[in-house]
Amino acid sequence: MLEDLLALQQRLLAAIAEAGSDDDLEQVRLSCLGRKGELTQILRSLGTLAPEQRKQAGEQANRTRETLQRALDERVLTLKQAALADRVVREQLDVTLPGRHRAAGAVHPITRAIAEIGTFFQGMGFIAATGPEVESDWYNFEALNLPPNHPAREMQDTFYLPETAAGERLLLRTHTSPVQIHVMEQQTPPLRVIAPGRVFRCDSDLTHTPMFHQVEGFMVDETVHFGHLKGLLAAFLRHFFARELPVRFRPSFFPFTEPSAEVDMGCLFCQGKGCRVCKGSGWLEVLGCGMIHPAVLGHVGIDRERYSGFAFGMGVERLAMLKYGIGDLRTFFDNDVRFLQRYGAAVMGDGR
Ligand code: FA5
Ligand code: MG
Repeated sequence: MLEDLLALQQRLLAAIAEAGSDDDLEQVRLSCLGRKGELTQILRSLGTLAPEQRKQAGEQANRTRETLQRALDERVLTLKQAALADRVVREQLDVTLPGRHRAAGAVHPITRAIAEIGTFFQGMGFIAATGPEVESDWYNFEALNLPPNHPAREMQDTFYLPETAAGERLLLRTHTSPVQIHVMEQQTPPLRVIAPGRVFRCDSDLTHTPMFHQVEGFMVDETVHFGHLKGLLAAFLRHFFARELPVRFRPSFFPFTEPSAEVDMGCLFCQGKGCRVCKGSGWLEVLGCGMIHPAVLGHVGIDRERYSGFAFGMGVERLAMLKYGIGDLRTFFDNDVRFLQRYGAAVMGDGR
């Protein structure tokens, strides 16, 4: 019996020393001290021994149990310390490493300009609207008093889509003015609407890109006149540029407005002396406007005797070029991150 106990102790001590995890250790503990463990069995069988043997064996069994228990406790501690040492090495923080750089995003000057334009006009009681970028001939031209073969259609080089099965030729809208028609078809005056969006023309140079942005605005009510239009646009430009810049209203022609005007701003790149950007004229055209033609009101069923309205369509890129001093319109769309770093706004908002 004594030899058995010592042999058992040897074997289990070796097993404890080899256990590499808490689970292993628990396994060993159960196999010796558990309800059916080897040592437990031996302790139970002591009753069958003669009294003298029982005393000796009992003492040895208790010593063995204590030895094993101590070995188990020590091994638990050793494993815990090893795990901790391992974590300390693994999770070491090297404070001398350079920081991880996180590039800050920026708001594109077009997004920023549109937000600023919107804020101003919303403050004046204008409500935002949108329209589709793929339009029918009716909305882009005819309803705006540009019948087929009208020479003014050539003012805007149009991208056409392939003819549909029904023989219709859809197009990419050349301006935001069709939003006037969509809104006036669905709503009745008084109207005060602002409509930003992308437009498309077959055009490309320093001041023209094939895709650009316009903000359309219009107002229809009983007593609207050209003075309102002029006052509103002058107030807007003063607000947008936050300083007095030369502005001129130049008589012009649009089939959908009468009278019509275009608004030019003094070229900031040459102080009006004439340069590449303004093509030597000293002025940069930023918007077209006028009193809505009665024929257009007629097309959407608005009483043209009772109501009058004005409309304008501004070039967002042109306004942004002048405000932020960006000399080539095409760089807006090059997607060069250096452009955003230089002209982007850190935060969305009024941005001034
Ligand atoms: C129009 O598009 C008219 N729909 C504006 C209008 C609306 C007149 C309502 C009357 C009433 P225009 O083609 O001039 O007009 O374009 C308006 C503005 O868009 C221009 O003044 C200019 O600032 C800008 N623009 C025109 N073509 C380009 C282009 N290719 N690239 C960048 N900006 C452009
Ligand atoms: Mg024009």
